[in-house]
Amino acid sequence: MLMTLAKIFGAAAIVLFVLTLMNFALKWTYRNYPNYFKKHPKYAKVHLALMKPFVKMHKWVGIGTVATMDAHIVLAFIERGFNISGAVTAVLLLSQMFVGMYGAWAKPKGKTWLIIHRVVAICAVVALLVHGILTD
Ligand code: HEM
Repeated sequence: MLMTLAKIFGAAAIVLFVLTLMNFALKWTYRNYPNYFKKHPKYAKVHLALMKPFVKMHKWVGIGTVATMDAHIVLAFIERGFNISGAVTAVLLLSQMFVGMYGAWAKPKGKTWLIIHRVVAICAVVALLVHGILTD
């Protein structure tokens, strides 16, 4: 029962994690394929309409990712104990949340925090894949 709940929270965390990454995917495609968007103005409208809420909600979806991940960790720990690939993923996502909060709300000068935020995102994707592969 607890493990089923843990899996539900784990799945919810993955969905929210993917939604946080959509922020980057939508902005990156818009920035890098200007000709495609010029040729397809109707799709460009849809793309922009999608991009706005994803960018606006990013911070809260990121915090939601970590909150659901926390519930997953507590339940999975009670049932199965410590999991190293899960712990690595958790440390990365938790750090990611704090780096994001720092960038969003402390408003530091420069873009170092954003570079760290992007690199940690890539590391977290890899860690999550490894966690998914290694854990039943
Ligand atoms: C835990 C999951 C998170 C992931 C995977 C994630 C991922 C990313 C990525 C890949 C970018 C780069 C976008 C770009 O290069 O344009 C980004 C940007 C950003 N993130 Fe996060 N992020 C997370 C959580 C957060 C949180 C919790 C906050 C703040 C409370 C935050 C604030 C920001 C801000 C301010 C930007 C730059 C502006 C923007 O694109 O909205 N992020 N995030």
